[in-house]
Amino acid sequence: MFGIQNLDLTRSTTEILKHCDLKAGDEVTVYADTGKSPGIVQSFFTSALALGVETTLAVFPQRRKMLQEPSRSALSLMKASTMVVDCATDAWLYTSGLNAILDAGGRVLQVLAAEDTLAKIIPNPGQVKRAEEAAKLFEKAKEVRIVSEAGTNITGDCHGRPGWGQDGVVRKAGDWDSAATAIYAVAPLEDAMNGTMVLEPGDFVWTHPEPMTLREPIRLTVQGGRLIKVDGGDQALRLDRWLRAFHDPNSYVIAHTGFGGDPRASPDFAQEVESIEGGINIAFGGNLFRGLGGKTKAKSHVDIVVMRQSMYLDDELVVKDGKIVHPKLKGLARS
Ligand SMILES: [Fe+2]
Repeated sequence: MFGIQNLDLTRSTTEILKHCDLKAGDEVTVYADTGKSPGIVQSFFTSALALGVETTLAVFPQRRKMLQEPSRSALSLMKASTMVVDCATDAWLYTSGLNAILDAGGRVLQVLAAEDTLAKIIPNPGQVKRAEEAAKLFEKAKEVRIVSEAGTNITGDCHGRPGWGQDGVVRKAGDWDSAATAIYAVAPLEDAMNGTMVLEPGDFVWTHPEPMTLREPIRLTVQGGRLIKVDGGDQALRLDRWLRAFHDPNSYVIAHTGFGGDPRASPDFAQEVESIEGGINIAFGGNLFRGLGGKTKAKSHVDIVVMRQSMYLDDELVVKDGKIVHPKLKGLARS
């Protein structure tokens, strides 16, 4: 049923699964749908088989909607597995189904990255360490603030929220991660983020399924944790329309903010943008995910990444003008 394999991809998927500490007795389900690149599905399936663990490949019709749960039968299969390689085309993080799999003790590795990204970004110990350290910084922070020369000045209250660090692998029961990513974040309290965020040309807005790289500035106004105004030109209008199309007031609620940490991530590949080292993310919409401690269920989730801004956690400067400067993170992630 499969064709010739991309060797770089196979090397990477094998390395990813090795980093996931699979042991005898573990059962892996590769969950895929009809829209996914067969090369990626094949590669994870054969890599898991080669590691000698019990592996099932399940292919379902593509859902074609974001944040929509898999079918009941797919969910029960995944709940019975120790690890799920989630090769669904459309993300379903922030759903109750995903949380139920994690609560059942499964670990889930989402695979949204394209073949070239997977082949290029292989996990390494530096990335794992950096994600751990970044999560600790967010965990102890009470306040997160983003500023920029272009006019961003926005502050969120994040006290009591867990710190979230993605390293692209899942190592223990209940872990969730996304392959080939290095994203660190926190979910500010849903009603406690205020200020202005000025997006600049070259910044990125992930309006699923067609992301936008900005050619012009967009000014976002956030009040009481909600995005209340999107000002700018054509692209601002497009973002505004995209948000409205969901007819869901929760599409406007702050979901997370943080930054990326992989020097290999490139702005030329949409799935890598959120991982760009020092690129600051801010997202609105669903964030019902226990790793973030988020509370919002929504029909949408938009990730925005700005390239030249600064982030403070309490009074500590962590990212300065798009570069990671915190001493606990600076030297990591190169190998
Ligand atoms: Fe996000």
